Order: sequence, then structure tokens, then C-alpha cells
Amino acid sequence: MKDITILGIESSCDETAAAVVRNGREVLSGVINTQIDIHKKFGGVVPEVASRCHIEVIDEVIDEALLQAGLALSDVDAIAVTYGPGLVGALLVGVSTAKSLAYALKKPLVPVNHIRGHIMANFVAHKDLEPPFVCLVASGGHSHIVEVQSYTDFKILGRTRDDAAGEAFDKIARVLGLGYPGGPLIDELARKGNPEAVRFPRVKMAQNSLDFSFSGVKTAVINYLHKLEQNNEGYNSADIAASFQEAVVDVLSTHTLEAALKTKNRTIALAGGVASNSALRERMSALCAERGISVIYPPPKLCTDNAVMIACAGYYGYLNGDFADMTLNAVANLQL
Ligand code: KG4
Ligand code: ZN
Repeated sequence: MKDITILGIESSCDETAAAVVRNGREVLSGVINTQIDIHKKFGGVVPEVASRCHIEVIDEVIDEALLQAGLALSDVDAIAVTYGPGLVGALLVGVSTAKSLAYALKKPLVPVNHIRGHIMANFVAHKDLEPPFVCLVASGGHSHIVEVQSYTDFKILGRTRDDAAGEAFDKIARVLGLGYPGGPLIDELARKGNPEAVRFPRVKMAQNSLDFSFSGVKTAVINYLHKLEQNNEGYNSADIAASFQEAVVDVLSTHTLEAALKTKNRTIALAGGVASNSALRERMSALCAERGISVIYPPPKLCTDNAVMIACAGYYGYLNGDFADMTLNAVANLQL
């Protein structure tokens, strides 16, 4: 079969990224320009600032990805781009750029769902991985348990009813004065704390439901800290970080295991920024080892936003004939 080379473009949040991937899994290049330092001082992503930053660097990021791959634009077979979900202004920068390139080069345009992209990072990291498997996708904007039935068919088994897991990590990190993004900072601090210091609530939805909710645990931590402050009592931040993380990891891991058992899948994949969490990885692996289920995850740089995952998803979309025309628009609340 002829080699298929895809240029992937990602700009849904605060990372401008481009990558060149051959046959879905062979990474020729991956370039990320992160805006974290710019948004840090605001404690979170400022959408308007994000769009402007994407515009400033996107051409350079794409050029660099092609340069590192040793290819010219004319060598790629298709352009894949994230068209949602995400910040609409940020998404539009990637979508318009991809549309212009596809039009000028007369190449196919493949629209990619960002959440599916996160899942696809596992195919890049694990060359022998094939569907079906269960995947927990947990990031700053989304938390889903999905059955990956084929390279292009995804069934949602559970989802958050309110906040995403990463959003809860970011909020609690802010309350503890740790900075942004909060996930990696809580992960690190929690290593020095006692996860059993405080038992924060684990919300159980109706029987049989694999859905979860993180707003309850978030509020519980905030109320707990307020109460201590009102009484002029101090607290150990590491214990709070560890106990909060424990509550989130407990819910994510037990629900994901239940999903795999229910659907009789023998492989669980983790994806999205929160998949880098060391406690989640350890807990998931320990729970599954007892049952002979294997747990896989991408390396941290493929867990957070990147364009390699978009190019991988674009390859399978290309094979499936999922092409867009010049009317492609950004869809901020695109569903999985
Ligand atoms: O996938 P991602 O880069 O962006 C979205 O699509 O949202 O995920 C970013 C999220 C942030 O909320 C960040 O705090 C969280 O992933 N995150 C982590 C860790 N590393 C990143 N959460 C917990 N533990 C980590 N080690
Ligand atoms: Zn993401």
C-alpha cells in the first residue's frame, strides 16, 4: 500500500501545534508552541489572547514541522485539523490555516475531533494496539469513558455530568496557591502528602451509571479549606493535594475498570492531560493487574495537546473518506 503522509494542525486551546505523521503511527515531526507562560499570570487561559498568539506563530510552527520531517508542503497527502471542541477563536485559526493550505495545494482536508485525537495518541505510542479497547479520556475540558470500537467508531460509556477532571485539578491548585496548570503541580505536591489525611466525597451516580461528577469534590475541598481559615487553623497543603487527588483517582479508576469489565474489553488506555497523572497510572495498573487487564498510556508529551495525535486521527479519517470542504467551520462544543 502506498504511504500516506498527513500534516496535522492543532489550535483548540493554548498550544499551537503541527506534526507530520506517516501511515498514522510513524512520527516524522511534532512541534508545539505553548502559551502557558503567557496565560500563567491570569491563572488560566484567556481566549482572546490565545487566538492572537495562535495567529502569530501558526505559520512558523507548520514550517518547522515540515522542516523537521524533511518534507515540502507538496509532499503531504492531506491536511488534518482540529475543528472542535475548544475555544472558538483559537480553533478558527487552525481551521482557516488548514483550509487555505488544502485549497492552495489541492489536497484533501480531514476534520478531526480533538477528544478523539487524544484517544488516538495511544496508537502512536503503542504500535501494535488495535481496537476494541476502553479508553478514559480526561483533560482540562473533557472527561469521558469510551469504547473504541474501530479506528473511527467510538461509543461513550460514561462522562462527567459537570466539571472535567483536569478543571478540578486546576481549580484546587489555584485555591492552594500552586499556579497554572494545576494538574502537574498537584501531582508533584501529593507525593509528599498523605492521601488518607481527609476523606473527600466520591459521588456515585445512579446504579449502573458510569458517569462521574467532580464539582462535589471540588466544592468539598474549598469548603474544608475555608472552614480551617475561618478558625485560623493551618493545614498541610501536601495532605490536601494528596487527599483531593485520591478522591479523583478513585472515581476515575473504578469507573474505567467497571466499563472494561462490563464490555469485556481486556485493554484500558488512558488519554488526555490527566492521563499523565502518576497516581492515576499507578492505581489503574494495580487494579487491572489483578484481573489480567492491560493498561496503556502515551508518554506525557502525547497526553497533553499536540498535533501528532491529530495527524494520526487524520490518517484514519482519510482512509475512511471523512473529508471536509471549504465550508468547514470551528465547532466549539463538538461532541465526541
Ligand atoms: O489535554 P490537555 O492538554 O488539554 C485539554 O484538552 O484540556 O489537558 C490539560 C489538563 C489540565 O487541566 C492539566 O492540569 C491536566 O490536564 N494535567 C494533569 C497532569 N498533567 C496535566 N492533571 C493531573 N495530573 C497531571 N500530572
Ligand atoms: Zn486536549
